[in-house]
Amino acid sequence: MRVDIITVVPDLLNSPFSHSMMKRAKDRGLLEIFTHNLRDYTPYKQGQVDDYQFGGGAGMVMMPEPLAILLDKLMSERAYDDIIYMTPDGPLFNQKTANMLSLKENLIIICGHYKGIDERIRQQYVTREISIGDYVLSGGELAAAVVVDAIGRLIPGVLNDETSALFDSFQDGLLAPPVYTRPANFRGMEVPEILLCGDPKKIDDWRYEQSLKRTKDRRPDLSKNL
Ligand code: 6GU
Repeated sequence: MRVDIITVVPDLLNSPFSHSMMKRAKDRGLLEIFTHNLRDYTPYKQGQVDDYQFGGGAGMVMMPEPLAILLDKLMSERAYDDIIYMTPDGPLFNQKTANMLSLKENLIIICGHYKGIDERIRQQYVTREISIGDYVLSGGELAAAVVVDAIGRLIPGVLNDETSALFDSFQDGLLAPPVYTRPANFRGMEVPEILLCGDPKKIDDWRYEQSLKRTKDRRPDLSKNL
């Protein structure tokens, strides 16, 4: 998968993809991430990429021309499956969307700043909008990092044990069960005995019960689908 990220703060996107799972995905050639500094593509003076909004009001708007120039360039080089705009007024991101996007070949992600991007870019170029939650971030970069992480780990070959994504929270609409590691007795707190019994069927059943209980207790909104 190739992801091209358009940003006015490319530095914000360096570290998130340089560690752990995302690093492994890149090292294995399964994920390529290119960040593009929008200021490098503006035809205006002094790297200007934003301007006052028509009609007045506080806050700047990202101008359409620099975005169109960069988008046209990228789209002339290869076909993109989706041009995603990160915005708090988009549909909420979830595991289902992550699964779907992990099957794509080429993605563009536009990170908004200030009051957002000119509406005409949304109409002409953007094919999908994503919000990561009901709160406002100062820019789309951290949200883009969240989305690329969630997608990247699902690309086949990225996870160590490929089946392990199957047991993630949300993958089946349930929260994950509790997990334990050594020591079996930690400061007087014992690991549930069933996990030591060695019977995989019993352990599976216990984990499923725990998942159901956790989902009902903590996320009754998800329980509705059970
Ligand atoms: Cl995608 N962008 C911004 N700026 N704020 C957000 C968001 C995105 N998702 C939730 N809040």
